[in-house]
Amino acid sequence: MGVQRDISDGSFTSVMALIQKCHQNIPERYVLPPFQRPNHVHVDCISTDHPVIDLSEMNHPAHRHRLINEVRAACNELGYFQVINHGIPTSVMKDALNSAEEFFNLPSEEKTRFASTDVHDPVRYGTSVNHGTDKVLYWRDFIKHYANPISDWIHLWPSNPPTYKEKMGNYAKAMVALQKQLMEVVLESLGLNASYLNNDIEEGSQVMTVNCYPSCPKPDLALGMPPHTDFGTITILNQSQQGLEIMDRDNKWHPVPFIQGALIVQLGDQMEVISNGRYKSVPHRAILNMKRKRFSIASLHSMRLEKKVGPAPELVDEQHPVAYREGSFGGFLDYISAKSISKAKYIETLKIK
Ligand code: OGA
Ligand code: NI
Repeated sequence: MGVQRDISDGSFTSVMALIQKCHQNIPERYVLPPFQRPNHVHVDCISTDHPVIDLSEMNHPAHRHRLINEVRAACNELGYFQVINHGIPTSVMKDALNSAEEFFNLPSEEKTRFASTDVHDPVRYGTSVNHGTDKVLYWRDFIKHYANPISDWIHLWPSNPPTYKEKMGNYAKAMVALQKQLMEVVLESLGLNASYLNNDIEEGSQVMTVNCYPSCPKPDLALGMPPHTDFGTITILNQSQQGLEIMDRDNKWHPVPFIQGALIVQLGDQMEVISNGRYKSVPHRAILNMKRKRFSIASLHSMRLEKKVGPAPELVDEQHPVAYREGSFGGFLDYISAKSISKAKYIETLKIK
């Protein structure tokens, strides 16, 4: 499967290694063309409602209806929302972020044993988006690993830091349980039975993307992650500080406010397909900070690798003809191993024009 194995996998400089040497400036290869740079608009200059949903209402029959309405409004308007009272202990969220930080603080040799540019690898350490193919580099180091079912994958995860498997594992399991509940409310908000795709969701794929964005001396010239949508159904994001931006329907960028203890839920392409386009995946990017490193953990959920997913039959009628062909997580990986995610979108190939 080593499509890009000819590019030597270990021969890259992580941003963590780079910042040891450069304090004032950033190397040319990180500088974006002017039109792709983040133009830092102040938060109070742009007004949009950033939906925050209280999940403690989930199990109150009397309140569930209101919750579903809030979820529907958020999915329609922006394709993302934050959740509070989600039941994940703060310690589990913090421990996972601390494990991330400890991992990225390790010496390069410890990390590069996981280095790979092959997007099919179940564990993959790298920098930028894909250091093997990126023309402009993004100010980010990452490790990604598969996580569901955890017993299939955890032995492949880093053993150093020594508590990584336990702490990241607890967090990964908590995310599987939460995404099941979130999928129920999102599906219900589409008018689908909450048990739609039940078994497929249960045995679905989970990719944990653990991101490290070191402080950047020139945050106006570079990005941590380029604009993209996530491939799956939903992504749940846990972050150490503010830095995520989402794009609204008028193509305007909005910083997502940081709420201590909250988790960010984003709709991905597979949800757009299931909803037959009623919901759209949310374009997002990560911006940089001059002073502080930022860590984030994105738990990307989708149907299992080979499972083909098309629009829910209940959402297809005369007014809403089938708008997407079936696609799969595996199809997405094959597609991006040939192209760069910032240039081409798998979901565009699924759209029926
Ligand atoms: C991702 C992602 C954003 C962030 O990992 O897919 O969009 O804020 N991360 O780290
Ligand atoms: Ni993303």
